[in-house]
Amino acid sequence: LVNAERIAEVIEHYAHMEGAALPMLHGLQERFGHVPEAAVPMVAEALNRSRAEIHGVVTFYHDFREAPAGRHVVKVCRAEACQSMGGEAVAARLASQLGVGWGETSPDGRVTLEATYCLGLCACAPSAMVDGQLIGRLDSDAADAIVAEVAR
Ligand code: FES
Repeated sequence: LVNAERIAEVIEHYAHMEGAALPMLHGLQERFGHVPEAAVPMVAEALNRSRAEIHGVVTFYHDFREAPAGRHVVKVCRAEACQSMGGEAVAARLASQLGVGWGETSPDGRVTLEATYCLGLCACAPSAMVDGQLIGRLDSDAADAIVAEVAR
């Protein structure tokens, strides 16, 4: 449940830190699974920054979500090493088979598809992460297996 009181608790916890914006936003995401829209003006006020600035931070970092995630979260690495190993073709296949756009959640709440930029698995590129589990050498068979898995 997202409410102003719970948001304020998280903000309070980080407010006195040096460079509090990122830890505060991470704290909010940890608590709510995303950075609630209502939190943006509250964070801005606590840190004496503008709403636009805080909104900019949330949208700049791919790790922050602006809406709750689906039951499954598929992150596909779209950074260089993975691209050079054919990652984009597999990424496109995944997006089309899941029927979800990048950064979006399927209307039934089943799956969220996110791009990520290096999972530290470049040696086994292309790579992905499904519900926190790393997957290397992502080929079309592995992509199909992911699609089947998240259908459940
Ligand atoms: Fe994809 Fe490093 S570039 S894991």
